[in-house]
Amino acid sequence: MIEISTSVLTIEDNAVSIFYELEVSGTDYFHIDVMDGKFVEKDTSKIMIDYATTLSHITPIGIDVHLMCEDIEKFVDEYIMLEPDSISFHIEAIKNKDQAMNIIQDIKSNNVKVGMAINPNTDIEKIFEYLPFLHKVIVMTVEPGKGGQELIESTISKIKKLKEYIIEKNLDTIIEADGGINNNNISKLKDAGLDIAVAGSYIVNSENKKDAILNLK
Ligand code: DX5
Ligand code: ZN
Repeated sequence: MIEISTSVLTIEDNAVSIFYELEVSGTDYFHIDVMDGKFVEKDTSKIMIDYATTLSHITPIGIDVHLMCEDIEKFVDEYIMLEPDSISFHIEAIKNKDQAMNIIQDIKSNNVKVGMAINPNTDIEKIFEYLPFLHKVIVMTVEPGKGGQELIESTISKIKKLKEYIIEKNLDTIIEADGGINNNNISKLKDAGLDIAVAGSYIVNSENKKDAILNLK
């Protein structure tokens, strides 16, 4: 069994009732896709802080914050007070290792798990030096920036390589895959070694969200 983090990016109307539906359907986390309009074209910063604030008041289920932002520190400060389960930022957005280590330290010192996300075209080896300090890695299986895309098959081998390295180095870093995940590709991702699957449209658009989540678990 793996864990499921449902992305709320594509939810527009009746958000609160859909949040409740997802909670009773067994999602393990709510995945908050924060986009700043600079790191990626779309800007979801207003609606995502609204959703995350609402979720923090109405459900005990963990909030999995995915920052697709250039000014990482600004958004960490904004989300840390909601006491999310985790905050993850993109390796492509960091300026240098010192900055990354400071952000990691800052998130951890607030008792929040820290993750680093990596785009499809970024070599997985680039993240290896950070693994001992991270709770998780989000391997992007689509280009960041929107929901409803097709999974990029070549990213599956990145998950496999990452899992092998984690085992070899006896680390306990969690692997989360994010984007284009559904019942047709989940078994390949499981075989590659993922621990958490992020799914947005597959779950949110399903008539029976409980079955959709169970199909992935
Ligand atoms: C893309 C986001 C993903 C996406 C997942 O930038 O990081 O979380 O919303 O949605 P689906 O599952 O529809 O690809
Ligand atoms: Zn995401």
